[in-house]
Amino acid sequence: MFHPDGPSFFELARQALSSTTRGYDLLAPKFDHTPFRTPDELLLPLADAIGPADSIGSAIDLCCGTGAVMRVLRPLCTDRVVGIDLSTGMLEEAARRLEQAPGAATVVLEVQDALAMEYDQQFDVATSCGAFGHVLHDDQDNFAERVRNALVANGRFVFVTHPMPPLLSRAYLLSRAFNGAMHLRNALIDPPFVMFYMTFPLERAHEVLERHGFELDVRAPYAHTVYAPMRLVIATKRA
Ligand SMILES: C[S@@+](CC[C@H](N)C(=O)[O-])C[C@H]1O[C@@H](n2cnc3c(N)ncnc32)[C@H](O)[C@@H]1O
Repeated sequence: MFHPDGPSFFELARQALSSTTRGYDLLAPKFDHTPFRTPDELLLPLADAIGPADSIGSAIDLCCGTGAVMRVLRPLCTDRVVGIDLSTGMLEEAARRLEQAPGAATVVLEVQDALAMEYDQQFDVATSCGAFGHVLHDDQDNFAERVRNALVANGRFVFVTHPMPPLLSRAYLLSRAFNGAMHLRNALIDPPFVMFYMTFPLERAHEVLERHGFELDVRAPYAHTVYAPMRLVIATKRA
């Protein structure tokens, strides 16, 4: 459907009818051939913003999937780069893909729910890309607090999002149509597949993260690319 080596329409439909975790388990071998994998054009400026090689000790990538973000994080770390995800299938792909990844930091992959993680001031940097749609509106405060707890004082939570588009724009209307279909699917079929669009735009990121003691620095490194509406956010944990 997206790429000759990507999933077919029927494979995608089967995945969408599974639970979130089972869906990703099924998708894992072909995930990197879908647009759901965060592209390197978004990740390289993110890595540049964090700093040069060997400039931080440890980092964690939340909802790491097949390890796209960990690949660019590893050279920045002197100690370890941790990836957590609910899907064993995605983590198996990540392990395979990160074997040859540049950098010397230890790679750790763990099956963990980002909404239940209990790290205590262990990381200089936390990242999460392409996964906010899996965090329901009412879980965002819990998520923010757990990210805060995982970071050292002045640690940074770095991610990519976008300002909310105008209410009558195509992007906004498409996202609402998709979310409506997903609510309907979840009302009819159990277990649910939790994935909604535009749930953590810039405005909401400010609201939630500032409530949890972060200071946001919003940058536009994608201005001259096809990703022009996207913003890079560096949210620093106030001591
Ligand atoms: C669209 S993929 C993004 C993967 C990767 N971050 C990337 O940008 O290519 C979303 C990932 O989030 C994971 N996920 C969803 N909910 C999660 C949760 N509560 N805790 C941990 N991982 C979760 C899924 O299993 C999936 O691997």
